[in-house]
Amino acid sequence: MYRIYIETYGCQMNFADSEIVASLMQREGHTMVTDIEEADYVLINTCAIRDNAEQRIRKRLRELRAVQQRHHQLRIGILGCMAERLQSQLMVEEENVSFVVGPDAYRRLPDILRQVRQPGVKAAETELSTTETYSDIEPVRLGSNGVSAYISIMRGCQNYCAYCVVPYTRGRERSRDPETIVAEARSLFNQGYKEVTLLGQNVNSYHWYNPDDGQETGFADLISHVADISPQLRVRFATSHPKDLSDELLQVMVSHDNVCKCIHLPVQSGSDRMLKLMNRHYDAAWYLDRIAAIRRYMPDCSITTDVIAGFCSETEEEHRMTLELFRKVRYDYAYMFKFSMRPDTYAAKHLVDDVPEDVKTRRLEEIIALQGQIALENNRLEVGKEFEVLVEGESHRSKEQLFGRTSQNKVVVFDRQDVCVGQYVRVRVTDCTAATLKGILIQ
Ligand code: SAH
Ligand code: SF4
Ligand code: F3S
Repeated sequence: MYRIYIETYGCQMNFADSEIVASLMQREGHTMVTDIEEADYVLINTCAIRDNAEQRIRKRLRELRAVQQRHHQLRIGILGCMAERLQSQLMVEEENVSFVVGPDAYRRLPDILRQVRQPGVKAAETELSTTETYSDIEPVRLGSNGVSAYISIMRGCQNYCAYCVVPYTRGRERSRDPETIVAEARSLFNQGYKEVTLLGQNVNSYHWYNPDDGQETGFADLISHVADISPQLRVRFATSHPKDLSDELLQVMVSHDNVCKCIHLPVQSGSDRMLKLMNRHYDAAWYLDRIAAIRRYMPDCSITTDVIAGFCSETEEEHRMTLELFRKVRYDYAYMFKFSMRPDTYAAKHLVDDVPEDVKTRRLEEIIALQGQIALENNRLEVGKEFEVLVEGESHRSKEQLFGRTSQNKVVVFDRQDVCVGQYVRVRVTDCTAATLKGILIQ
């Protein structure tokens, strides 16, 4: 029986996958350890979305050489998107890696661990699947606060946005049997969890067809089934693709208080020419119409986004259109990135990465500055209001304070009094920064 240490990079889907891997390991009788010095195997679940994500992993592998010097029996394996992208080539480039396993091949891990025990043996398993959803595997919650948990409901993506590596690293889109999703959520609730986040690359493209009775389950149906488990169980979801944001979903959100009023809706650019070149399947007007629909149904819903600065051939005017769109939407939060050319994508094959690095940096900084100001102004509007907050843990700054989140996914910090983690409390907001609300408990 082996001791396994796992380290995770990248998106929430990767964190959820690591919990599936941990479960597969424990089934075999292996033990997950949190101290790398105790490990027989180090698994690194990697991300390939931007070049700097991969550079970080390579740096980590160099650091791990020192640990391997001390523990000659230690084997290092790469999982996730970088494993899928580079396959066995990664083991040639990185000598201290003994195995690579792609996101759809984790069931092969127990065999691979046995194989690579022998000195000098290396193994790669990177076949993608059209059906694997790990639906029968109850994840082992790693580093959990016992309050909120992720549930993977679909995998893969075939939208082929021109810049994006995910369709190549995660394979075809496929949805998971809704019964297993609801069962997992119910089991979490019975264990005391108060919040589940349903995850998928394009979570709202979820679609299940039951071949036995011909019944179809769309994302809105699924959300309402999960929300019906208990009003005490909060439901979140990420990431939504704008092209599939239906009114039906918005209506389900309105009719269930426990479906959190927060939508992450990556826009990528405010320019129609860029959106077309990116292959996003919507233009700015269509996107803004979806934002208007969200506001119409749920005036209190927070909206967050992803954006890319300096995609191929982006002009100054097109960059200004992104800033303009940010001013119109007034996001509560944004993940903001400089375009990074990824091998094998449409952009790598057909477009030129021609926006100079310093221009990309400046454009990104302009978006960050604008968004920081908008987030602060949005938060100031919350001062004086009352929110229901699910308490998640101790504040990082002080033991005397707790933090939790509003339905809108905003972090609120408040003096603890006799409140416990996992409780719902009412808090009045008294102050804020761009990132955090400060409040007082209302008894
Ligand atoms: N499926 C989600 C996003 C998944 S990737 C969606 O379509 O919205 C997360 C984010 O990384 C993307 O929204 C995009 O903003 C960013 N991203 C993806 N590829 C990138 C690249 N090559 N360079 C910079 N940012 C990128
Ligand atoms: Fe990447 Fe586009 Fe798929 Fe999102 S929708 S994962 S950005 S290809
Ligand atoms: Fe990264 Fe793969 Fe997620 S590339 S963002 S870990 S799907």
